[in-house]
Amino acid sequence: MTQHQARHVPVLFDVVMDFLSVRPNGAYVDCTLGLAGDAEGIVRRLGPAGRLIGFDRDPEALELARARLDRVREEMGTRAPQVELIGEAFSRIGEHVEPASADGILADFGVSSLQLDEARRGFSFQAEGPIDMRMDTRVGPTAVQVVNEMSERELANLIYEFGEERRSRKVARAIVRGRPITTTAQLARIVASAAPPMKFGQIHPATRTFQALRIYVNRELDEIRALFEAAPRLLKPSGRLVVIGFHSLEDRIAKDSFRDGARQGIWTVLTKKPVTAGEEEIERNPRSRSAKLRAAERQ
Ligand SMILES: C[S@@+](CC[C@H](N)C(=O)[O-])C[C@H]1O[C@@H](n2cnc3c(N)ncnc32)[C@H](O)[C@@H]1O
Repeated sequence: MTQHQARHVPVLFDVVMDFLSVRPNGAYVDCTLGLAGDAEGIVRRLGPAGRLIGFDRDPEALELARARLDRVREEMGTRAPQVELIGEAFSRIGEHVEPASADGILADFGVSSLQLDEARRGFSFQAEGPIDMRMDTRVGPTAVQVVNEMSERELANLIYEFGEERRSRKVARAIVRGRPITTTAQLARIVASAAPPMKFGQIHPATRTFQALRIYVNRELDEIRALFEAAPRLLKPSGRLVVIGFHSLEDRIAKDSFRDGARQGIWTVLTKKPVTAGEEEIERNPRSRSAKLRAAERQ
């Protein structure tokens, strides 16, 4: 077991398992395998006639997930379910999952601890690394291209829209003046100088700009919208969609899609308010602080 897998407990794991309420013969899709903690939970609840289809567009994550799930299946022996892992974006779910075939679909959006902890992936402003931020390392552009090549105006709009950073113009100006920018630490310093924390104890000033670049580079919101569009067609009646968002842009798409779908007779929403982590989980895993889980059932 790698260091990451030993340490990593998926966010809101018990709640996810409760909402999915895995049936041994069912078919489930994990759109965001990551370190496969949730996927392992699903596989262990399935029987030999059950099936898990997993997606991750990060080739490193996919290989780690495969190794972990292989071990679990080996341990389960003849009781092990079928597992199929796909190294593509989950927006392509419709190409791999038959209509009305899934009992449950899970998506735990955002970055994995593996991605955040590896400085060379360039997601973290707390480590010195190249400004990459691609989940799928096979396709461009990287964030360093965006930071060094985009016009000041476009950069400001991007930081405002995807980072919800009110000081986006100041930040964009500082970035353009600071070019060429090569490392995450250098970028974090430039952003912090343009938008210092307003109050003691506030989030790191670079958080919003890093979030914006990551969302843009990985087209994260388009991916989420595509999933909400495809899911109703792929679920069986009473099949469930469970999603976890980590910032307001993700959660807003989930909330609005479920609400609009409920009006159209597509969804029965199971979470009136989003489910959040309790104090104990936040203590154990600070990343869970911002998690919001929503679930709905196909009518
Ligand atoms: C927060 S982690 C998931 C953690 C996972 N639930 C676990 O138990 O370890 C999110 C993962 O989803 C992947 N991911 C994010 N957006 C994706 C997308 N649009 N298509 C495919 N994979 C995606 C990331 O590469 C990352 O590995």
